[in-house]
Amino acid sequence: MRHLMSPLDFSIEELDKLFDLAADIEANPAKYAHACAGKKLATCFYEPSTRTRLSFESAMYNLGGNVLGFSDAGSSSAAKGESVSDTIRMISCYADICAMRHHKEGAPMVAATKSSIPVINAGDGGHQHPTQTLTDLLTIRSIKGRLNNFTIGLCGDLKFGRTAHSLIHALSRYANIRFIFISPEELKVPEYITEMLREENIPFEEVTKLESVMPELDILYMTRVQRERFFNEEDYVRLKDFYILNKEKMELAKDDMIILHPLPRVNEISVEVDDDPRARYFQQVQYGVYVRMALLLTLLEIEV
Ligand code: CP
Repeated sequence: MRHLMSPLDFSIEELDKLFDLAADIEANPAKYAHACAGKKLATCFYEPSTRTRLSFESAMYNLGGNVLGFSDAGSSSAAKGESVSDTIRMISCYADICAMRHHKEGAPMVAATKSSIPVINAGDGGHQHPTQTLTDLLTIRSIKGRLNNFTIGLCGDLKFGRTAHSLIHALSRYANIRFIFISPEELKVPEYITEMLREENIPFEEVTKLESVMPELDILYMTRVQRERFFNEEDYVRLKDFYILNKEKMELAKDDMIILHPLPRVNEISVEVDDDPRARYFQQVQYGVYVRMALLLTLLEIEV
């Protein structure tokens, strides 16, 4: 039995296989329509979500399976003090696979140690968000045709941004990737990540101004400044509109640069950018369904 806690849990070869499967699902959806008949996915979300929870549910329904779960810890027995370890023991009796989001870093990992079904980390605090990374990688591979040889700028909250952390780890395994981290001083990428990049001799630079690096980027990965991760409202208010990508800034970008964003968006991408053909964040959401379908089939060991 296999869990998914980090994007590094799959080798590059396994990821290629997963993305090939996702591409086949996109091309031949009917072939997979009953692949998970009789199977149940539990979505245990202790923290708010729109995309991750609903895309998992959509993925399971697309595969002919069923879904149960909760979208709010307050409506589960967590509100009465039940531990994650006890909850997953119950869920193991009700479902075949579980996607879990939790505000505490490591909670899905704790669940995995007590589970008799595969557990997928659907986002744990400011730590990791591996299925968002699978979505991001599939999107890049599908649009750019490769997962190597590019300069990627990650912009916004790089301190607490779990999607950025997971993506940096995942991309660091591919050849000739150059990172440009664009953030205010207070939201810089954590040192354990920059240390890892130094050790691996992976080029990166850290800047504050988006405009200064815009012409160099093949991919711009925008992120939201996350109110829920701040310790005080004053700091959030000061930093929340630090970056706003608008039409004027897009004029500095390459014609084939793509903009990705894990979403939800607040103000960091002006809606006027949505019509730019380089804005791919809504297409990215669709890839999230295909890759989660491929992931469910892989972890449930179902071959079609
Ligand atoms: N990208 C993402 O994790 O979105 P949700 O928080 O809506 O699931």
